[in-house]
Amino acid sequence: MKTINEFQKMKNEKRKISVVTCYDYWSARIIDGTDIDAVLVGDSAAMVMHGFETTINAELEMMGYHVAAVKRGLKNKFLIADLPFLAHKKSKEILVDAIDLLMKAGAQAIKIEGANGNIEIIKNLVDTGIPIMGHLGLTPQSVNQFGGFKLQGTNETAADRILNDARLLQQAGCFSIVLEMVPAQLAKLISEELTIPTIGIGAGVYTDGQVLVLQDLLGLSNGFNPKFLRKYLDGSELIKGALNNFNSDVKKENYPGEKESYH
Ligand code: KIV
Repeated sequence: MKTINEFQKMKNEKRKISVVTCYDYWSARIIDGTDIDAVLVGDSAAMVMHGFETTINAELEMMGYHVAAVKRGLKNKFLIADLPFLAHKKSKEILVDAIDLLMKAGAQAIKIEGANGNIEIIKNLVDTGIPIMGHLGLTPQSVNQFGGFKLQGTNETAADRILNDARLLQQAGCFSIVLEMVPAQLAKLISEELTIPTIGIGAGVYTDGQVLVLQDLLGLSNGFNPKFLRKYLDGSELIKGALNNFNSDVKKENYPGEKESYH
């Protein structure tokens, strides 16, 4: 997939959309050779790559470096970047500069968390020709407001608010919406009503696509075991095994061998 048009086409044709996060060149090259549909340079980079506790620490400069590195490794995939914490709340100039930086680094679309207070901003950006992806439910930049990384939309009022926000984001021109950590039935309702694709994470099977953090699905995020996560590889153990084999070969003078030496 290379364009937002294909996102919409996949929803229209009831084909599920797969998205993974990516933050660097070497994993971008690997993803580029897979069937994954699209790539998100998430502000989760602050946590996964830099060890911060929340995404609040994702700075614009940090995001720009990650987007540029991913872009250099990605030839065949649609690339979305997160707008970092408060970049749209400071001033119009700061927002425009932030989007300028992320898109010149290689992003084809920008993801903005939340609807409240953002609808006019999103409308203006879409009118300017910038594809915007929405993000509702557990929007991690608001983790302190939620009191932790918790399931959202668990009562009728909260669920109604998320459904209404989804409608507003679609009207504002978003080409897609991430639904994070909401009950599967709510995600189903939203996905059935909206004409644009929904991409779920911890939102059940009924969304139009799924997104996971690359390191989580590869089993590289030690100690992170939420109910929604399926690990497709025991990455940490495999990497540790390879490193221990290298260490042991070095100690035993098993590496380098004849074939690995120059004469
Ligand atoms: O930053 C991120 O990785 C995200 C996804 C989990 C949707 O926003």
